[in-house]
Amino acid sequence: MSATEQTSKQSETVRKHKEFLFPAVAMYYQEPLALVRGEGEYVWDDAGNKYLDCFGGVLTVSVGHANPKVTEAIIEQVRTIQHTSTLYANKPQSDLAEKLYQITPGKLKKSFFTNSGTEADDTAIHAAKLATGRHEIVVLRHSYSGRSATSLSAVGHSTWRPLPPQVAGIVHARAPYCYRCPFKLTYPECGLACAEDIEELIMTSTTGEIAAFMAEPILGVGGFIVPPEGYFERAAEITRKHGGLLIADEVQTAWGRTGDKWFGIEHWNVEPDIITSAKGLGNGVPVGITVATSEVADKFPGLTFSTFGGNPVSMAAALAVIRVIEDEDLRTNAATVGAYFRQRLEELKDKYTVIGDVRGMGLMQALELVKDRETKEPAPQAVSQVFEETKRRGVLIGKGGLYGNVIRTGVMLNSTKDTIDELIEALDASFAVA
Ligand SMILES: Cc1ncc(COP(=O)(O)O)c(C=O)c1O
Repeated sequence: MSATEQTSKQSETVRKHKEFLFPAVAMYYQEPLALVRGEGEYVWDDAGNKYLDCFGGVLTVSVGHANPKVTEAIIEQVRTIQHTSTLYANKPQSDLAEKLYQITPGKLKKSFFTNSGTEADDTAIHAAKLATGRHEIVVLRHSYSGRSATSLSAVGHSTWRPLPPQVAGIVHARAPYCYRCPFKLTYPECGLACAEDIEELIMTSTTGEIAAFMAEPILGVGGFIVPPEGYFERAAEITRKHGGLLIADEVQTAWGRTGDKWFGIEHWNVEPDIITSAKGLGNGVPVGITVATSEVADKFPGLTFSTFGGNPVSMAAALAVIRVIEDEDLRTNAATVGAYFRQRLEELKDKYTVIGDVRGMGLMQALELVKDRETKEPAPQAVSQVFEETKRRGVLIGKGGLYGNVIRTGVMLNSTKDTIDELIEALDASFAVA
């Protein structure tokens, strides 16, 4: 059955979700989907409808649903030994740590494994505080870092924050959001005012000495906001001048997603002291990583422990994902297919005035929708309409941005130009009627 033939009968799974889960666990679509199966780039719902998955559960299914090589590694590991805790060494954990040392930039060497991006960011912030003896952290407005007390305090969206910041000493700098420049300036005449703002922020809102500046190389939940050339260099310079470390939150931007490089930060000509990641590394298996330089990691005192961190099954899955990315040269694929995708999105922008901005890198591409290209008034309703229309055409996409007016995509790293054509066709038809 095709997506257009789907019945409007409410799924029993969706009904139970609505009745028994916290209502805040919101689902996409007027008639939410219950997904039951995934294979490669496609997923099926419980009514038998097939969809091209262009969001991968938020850039998490990176090398295809049920990728045979990853599935095989998981099954083999479950059969062998499923759990050890970090109180014992296990081979997949040691091998993954070594592999991360080999593929991360600069002097990054030592890893701590957890279960999510939230924990990865928490670990990074704790490590930075412990290594520097300082306690203040600069983060970005429009950023997202998770749900714990610490990472929620760092989040730069009121929409994702049910409580005020619970952890003191986290201050938010202006985002390098050129399309909506917070200083109403234009690059490059702006002189990177957003980066300079970090110094003003440190001088006015902290003790003058910080533990770290933590930023996403591309602000993901914020709507794939790509900083301008030179931003990270200047931000790193200011950070180090005030005693801080540079933390790159690569939860969305790692594993080749941005094209050619393993990590998004590698595009920006700076060396981070800590990298965090999660999502795409496990292809759906829960995993979080915090990789630091020896100087930083060695200063983490006393004992630390994570029951499921370094779990051999997650580690085996992660190793298999990295192997697939290497063997199939998916970093290059993300750059090549990403460039084609970008060109097709720009064509859509020429056709539909509701598209105010096309941005992203590699296979991390987004469209910001506006009611008027001059005023740039956000158009979240247009996103909702395009969402419903693309779903009717059997294609799943994502959304984001502070105003809910950004369409985000996260096609698999092994997608082809055919995938892009299928997605563009659905978007084109949807914009035409939305
Ligand atoms: C950049 C970034 N950091 C951290 C997180 C938190 O990750 P998790 O949901 O795995 O806790 C996310 C989640 O979307 C993210 O996008």
